[in-house]
Amino acid sequence: MLRLREVEVRYRTPGGVVTAVSDVSLDVPARGLTVLAGPSGSGKSTLLRVLSLVERPTLGAVELHGAGTGRLSDRARRRLRRREISLVFQNPADNLVGHLTVGDNLRAAAQASGRSARVPELLAQLGLPDTAGWRVPALSGGQQQRLAFGCALARESAVVLADEPTSQLDAASADLVLETVADLARRGVPVVVASHDPRLIALADTRFDLENGVLAA
Ligand SMILES: Nc1ncnc2c1ncn2[C@@H]1O[C@H](COP(=O)(O)OP(=O)(O)OP(=O)(O)O)[C@@H](O)[C@H]1O
Ligand SMILES: [Mg+2]
Repeated sequence: MLRLREVEVRYRTPGGVVTAVSDVSLDVPARGLTVLAGPSGSGKSTLLRVLSLVERPTLGAVELHGAGTGRLSDRARRRLRRREISLVFQNPADNLVGHLTVGDNLRAAAQASGRSARVPELLAQLGLPDTAGWRVPALSGGQQQRLAFGCALARESAVVLADEPTSQLDAASADLVLETVADLARRGVPVVVASHDPRLIALADTRFDLENGVLAA
């Protein structure tokens, strides 16, 4: 569904060229939870940005549904991303519109990719019943992060990607987010998470280990 072929990402910095990711080829499984694991600086976030079509690799190919994305214009990439890919950031507030209600966040997310949200069902699935009229700041960090995954569900993306979705939460909130992630993956939505949280790694159906920008054998 989503695959990388010999991807390399280099950055020009004042100190010289940094190779963040090198020669990475992988297939994201069409089902289940995939975890990109590895120590700080190993290239997890970089790879996630490439997988989500936010960033073009310096070399190599990113294929979605069997088609290369390298020749697409920025506009075509954005359109494809909106329709097919959801990205959940580390900081819960970055994933939501703070002045909208919970229900309106779900509706707006669905609308942006041409869908319509069944708000009560989604909120029941997320363990957030009866919060449709609440404003986002009334939710805890963990609840906000679960809502962020709910927005991804509402968009009916082909794949949901998340960068360290539990790292800014206390242990109890993180547990609830882990349940949501596992639940999404069980429903057949492929989820790719970059994380070094051992509890997330333990839930993985597929695991890729990065070390200094390369995949460990
Ligand atoms: N925009 C950029 N400009 C220059 N260097 C970058 C840029 N983005 C990432 N890097 C470098 O690429 C390497 C990989 O970074 P990346 O953020 O992908 O690692 P990570 O595995 O997500 O780390 P962490 O666990 O700390 O989030 C690091 O050496 C980083 O400094
Ligand atoms: Mg990172």
